[in-house]
Amino acid sequence: MAKEKGVKEIEDLPGIGPTSAQKLRDAGFDTLDKIATALPGALSEATGLSAEAAKKAIDAAKEATTLQFETGAHASERRKGLGRIDTGAKDFNELLGGGVEAQGITEAYGRFAAGKSQLGFELCVNVQKPVGKGGLGGSVLFIDTEGTFRPERIEAIAKAEGLDPKEVLENIFLVRALNTEQQILAIERAEKLIREKNIKLIVVDSITSLFRAEFLGRGMLNERQQKLNSHVDKLKKLAEQHDLAVYITNQVMDNPGMLFGDPTTPIGGNILAHATTTRLYFRKGKEEKRIVKLLDSPDRPEGECVIKITTEGIKG
Ligand SMILES: Nc1ncnc2c1ncn2[C@@H]1O[C@H](COP(=O)(O)OP(=O)(O)OP(=O)(O)O)[C@@H](O)[C@H]1O
Ligand SMILES: [Mg+2]
Repeated sequence: MAKEKGVKEIEDLPGIGPTSAQKLRDAGFDTLDKIATALPGALSEATGLSAEAAKKAIDAAKEATTLQFETGAHASERRKGLGRIDTGAKDFNELLGGGVEAQGITEAYGRFAAGKSQLGFELCVNVQKPVGKGGLGGSVLFIDTEGTFRPERIEAIAKAEGLDPKEVLENIFLVRALNTEQQILAIERAEKLIREKNIKLIVVDSITSLFRAEFLGRGMLNERQQKLNSHVDKLKKLAEQHDLAVYITNQVMDNPGMLFGDPTTPIGGNILAHATTTRLYFRKGKEEKRIVKLLDSPDRPEGECVIKITTEGIKG
């Protein structure tokens, strides 16, 4: 959606001041798209505006959100130019078509100690390298929901890459989220930080653990999925709008209904799958070896590679 005629925020609509804008948001009309498709009656009920004023606001929102068409050729050029972050291992990069891509969400799931967090640390370092040299030349927003962020690991990987560990750590903005509310807020308020600090990677490690702990039992499953859904959608929008990469980790649960093959499925199931661009399944091999499987990619064949987790980070 392109924003035209200077209408970028709800407040820019004719007749909508800060108070009406807040009322609209509170009633769920929190984007121009939603207002553009609203009925005048619903809008005036939410804000107390006259039906006529509501219609004017809707028309302006419609104009501001007209669909923009892109040619296939242009889309192809754009995809070729997508930024990529080096994973540290050549085979792994190739499996991903060049590395972890910007403008999308890459999800890693697997059991404990599978290497999901370690990949997050590796990306935190490599994203800071210049474009074309394995990075996106930007900094990191790291949402730690499990208390497993380890600055020592970042330092060790940075040193091995010939970077100044102190400088690398200074470019990582850490949020320790203790509940889902803090986790959701950290993303809802990220926009300013992204602009000011040139954030090019958002890590959420892990995306599901707090949701799983707070929404217990079948009765709460719906609410959990809805919240998770909107959280992941927001992440996806940030990735697209700011040309940044999102990396999320996820645990697995045993799926007793599955009789053959690997009985593990990622938590959040389809909710996460619909928003995730690339899904990776991490499995432990012998010693420091890990097997990474690529699943559900929209443009790459399924495949596997073997990586090693070392003190110096991820290696082939
Ligand atoms: N300094 C290090 N040197 C070498 N290997 C390390 C080092 N630190 C951690 N590892 C390896 O990484 C493993 C932990 O991986 P990681 O923390 O990424 O797991 P995870 O997939 O995030 O698991 P969880 O679901 O528990 O968060 C350890 O078991 C160890 O094998
Ligand atoms: Mg972890």
